[in-house]
Amino acid sequence: MKSLILTFVTVLLIISACTYDKHFPAIANNNNPNTPPYVCTDTVHFSTDLEPIISSTCVQIGCHMGNGYGGPGALDYTVFANVQIEDSAIYTRITYPPTQTGVPGFMPKNGAPLPDSIIQKFYCWWKQGGLNN
Ligand code: HEM
Repeated sequence: MKSLILTFVTVLLIISACTYDKHFPAIANNNNPNTPPYVCTDTVHFSTDLEPIISSTCVQIGCHMGNGYGGPGALDYTVFANVQIEDSAIYTRITYPPTQTGVPGFMPKNGAPLPDSIIQKFYCWWKQGGLNN
């Protein structure tokens, strides 16, 4: 009987240890303001990693287009300098909840949130200096 109870308690401990480990690291990282949301191991190249996303998702009529086709208050993102000065603001806007529709609101406006892997690239590009690379 004693060994049965001992086995039962041991199994319980193992299960609780597994469950705790699975959740704890993620929560700690997101809620700790001193821990960066992403680890940037690779260099992000604007021309190959970000420019195609910006062209297909942000540069649309009524949005970040030039020559009078842009939306009110939206910078022309076909000009690199406009994207560069907004490097941190871009990260802020694409990580807003989609429900934040006013100004300043979630981006891409009226669109779906960018995949986390792309958000990470915008974050790392910003942290790596917003280079025209
Ligand atoms: C992933 C794509 C997009 C990114 C990264 C982005 C980012 C931003 C940022 C950082 C701003 C602040 C000022 C500026 O830089 O112009 C902004 C403003 C603006 N964006 Fe976007 N945007 C995107 C897509 C869009 C789309 C698709 C639309 C239109 C449907 C749009 C419409 C606007 C407008 C009208 C403003 C000015 C009003 C405001 O400040 O909210 N954007 N966007």
